[in-house]
Order: sequence, then C-alpha cells, then structure tokens
Amino acid sequence: MQQVKAVVARGKGQPVELTTINVPDPGPGEAVVQVQACGVCHTDLHYREGGINDDFPFLLGHEAAGIVEAVGEGVTSVEPGDFVILNWRAVCGDCRACRRGEPWYCFATHNATQKMTLAEGPDAGTELSPALGIGAFAEKTLVAAGQCTKVDPSARAAAVGLLGCGVMAGIGAAINTGGVTRGRSVAVIGCGGVGVAAVAGSALAGASPIIAVDIDPKKLEAARRLGATHVVDSSGTDPVAAIQELTGGFGADVVIEAVGRPETWKQAFYARDLAGTVVLVGVPTPDMTVPDLPLIDVFGRGGSLKSSWYGDCLPSRDFPMLVDLYQQGRLDLDAFVTEEIGLGDVEAAFGRMHQGDVLRSVVIL
Ligand code: APR
Ligand code: ZN
Ligand code: ZN
Repeated sequence: MQQVKAVVARGKGQPVELTTINVPDPGPGEAVVQVQACGVCHTDLHYREGGINDDFPFLLGHEAAGIVEAVGEGVTSVEPGDFVILNWRAVCGDCRACRRGEPWYCFATHNATQKMTLAEGPDAGTELSPALGIGAFAEKTLVAAGQCTKVDPSARAAAVGLLGCGVMAGIGAAINTGGVTRGRSVAVIGCGGVGVAAVAGSALAGASPIIAVDIDPKKLEAARRLGATHVVDSSGTDPVAAIQELTGGFGADVVIEAVGRPETWKQAFYARDLAGTVVLVGVPTPDMTVPDLPLIDVFGRGGSLKSSWYGDCLPSRDFPMLVDLYQQGRLDLDAFVTEEIGLGDVEAAFGRMHQGDVLRSVVIL
C-alpha cells in the first residue's frame, strides 16, 4: 500500500478536491501505474455532477498514459517499466462476443479487484469509485493488467494518453464502426473532441469529401485543421441539405453523429446516401427518444444504423498502431492537446470546457 495525491469528487455537484488516497499493492491480475498524463473529459464532469451514478466518492480521470510500476501475481502482458495507455475495456477472452471472434464488443470487461480508498478526512478508508474503472487524476493508480496497453515509449504521453478515451472513440467510430475507407464521403455531426477525432480518422482512411457540422464556428476551425474538406455551421443552415449539396445531391456514404441527441441523429439519418451507414458515437441520456421516424424510411433507405462503443476498438490492436501513425507524423494527436495543466487545475479545466475553446486540457504529473 502507498499514499499518493489524487483528484476526488466527494459529492454531487461539489467542486473536485485534491487529496491523498491509498493505492494497494497489485494483487493477482492487477498493475499499479505511475500516471504521466491524463486528459480532462466530459465524462469526468458528468461523474461529479451525479449524471452517471451515485457511487461517490469518485476518483476521476481516465484518458491516461504512464509507466507500469508493479504487477501482481500471474501478470505476463506487461512488466514494470513498460510505457502504457490505459483502456477502460479490458477484454475477458471468454464471453459470447470474445468467443465468436469479436472481442471489441466484449460483454464482460473487467477492472482491478481491490479498491483504492480515501486516506484523509473524516471519511478516510472509504472506497473510491474510479471513473470508467481507471481513476488516473492520481500520481499512481491501480488497474487490471488488461487495462494497460503497451505502446512506443518514445511517444509524448500527453498526446497518446488521449487515445485512451475520446480520441479513440472518434477515430474508431469512423474506421472500425463506419468502415470508412478511401474515397468514401463522410459527414460528422458535432465536432467536439470525439467528432474532430472522427474527422481525423476519416482523413487517415482517405475519405473524401469530409464534411464537418457544428453550431460553434470555433469547433469547425479545429475540424478543418484535422482534415475536414468542408464545414457547415448548422446554427443557421439545414445540415441535411448542405451535406446533400456537397455530395452530388445524394448524401454521404457514412454519417457520424457525435453529439448524442435525437435531432442530430435524425439529421444523420437523412443526410446519408441510400444504403449508407449512420454511426451513433454520441451518448444519449435515458429519457431521449426519436419521435416520428417513418419505418418506411428505415426500410426504403437501406444500409445500416450502428452504434459505436468506445470506437469498437480493440486496444491491443488499435493503440500501438495509432501511436505509430502519430510518431510518423500521419495522425496529429498534438492538435488535441489545447493546454497542459497541473493536478490542482482540474476544476478550472471543467469551467473552460463549457466555454468551448478547449479540445482537451491534459494534466501532467
Ligand atoms: N448540431 C451540431 N453540433 C452540435 C449540436 C447540434 N445541434 N449541439 C451540440 N453540438 C456540438 C457542440 O458545439 C460540440 O462541439 O457537439 C459538440 C459536442 O462536443 P463535446 O461537448 O466537446 O463532447 P465530446 O467530448 O466530443 O463528446 C461527444 O460523444 O462520447 C460521447 O458522451 C460523449 O455524447 C458525447 C459525445
Ligand atoms: Zn469478453
Ligand atoms: Zn473520456
């Protein structure tokens, strides 16, 4: 057991706190990772606002890279000193999805068995709930060994750590879920961190045109930097008509929804060419429904309506490949790092996230 500094959300809506936590030594199948960099994601804010569940206190942070410090019994996939990106879907190898050769859908992903706990205050000893089973706004964190994916150790931690969540979700939504390949037309609705990553993934795959849609002109600039060939400000224009116009009147082969709302999903549905693909990577809330969608349109337009879980990624396959492309200058992950901040600056970063001029603030440890 050791004590480290970490960022904890103690209660619904309360500002996060920099405090001390206990990190157990790794047990069987576990690893302790010394965190080097961890991005601030909307999901962290969502946890502290009580939007995910009520299992406070939360240990926040989940888009991280670092060095394995120690491993528990039976761990052979990583060893102390390895540079790793943390993933939040460690595949089991044994569930229905894994057995049929589709481990990216694994239905039984796992996390560390032991719990990290609060080390300070009246509630010292309370078990922490790590965000997405990671909890990496901490000098060190305890995870399942399968959550550690080894990558090129010379890569910049602040940039490649982002592959652990939103950037992988976006790139994977395009390439893995949408099957985007050279010459396909793509539209991306919503250009936050996830949508812009879907633009970058589409560019990497050779898609053309790549149409970025958002209601915020700042987001459209970022999308252009990462490979959008056309941008549409849908605050004043009908995005469906604009996408059709840019694709010979037909609609895009693949339309990626990266907002998570019924109205933007419907735009994606109608902005797609016949037999095209809609990918939903934005996460809706449980109360949302899609009203008035004629079933004949679902049939008549054909193609596929898909959802993308974490970009349908297989971390062991996709993280090392994308890090190599980054190292070769073919995937600009640095463009996602708007600022580097300290462990004590997470609350302020949540504030900046709302203003919309930050793709990612990244905590450096
Ligand atoms: N039309 C187009 N764009 C919109 C609309 C709209 N009606 N409403 C919001 N947007 C844009 C915002 O301007 C912003 O640029 O969608 C983007 C959402 O981006 P972020 O809030 O930065 O979220 P991000 O981290 O990219 O995640 C997007 O994917 O993984 C999920 O939970 C995540 O649902 C979220 C989504
Ligand atoms: Zn499985
Ligand atoms: Zn995230």
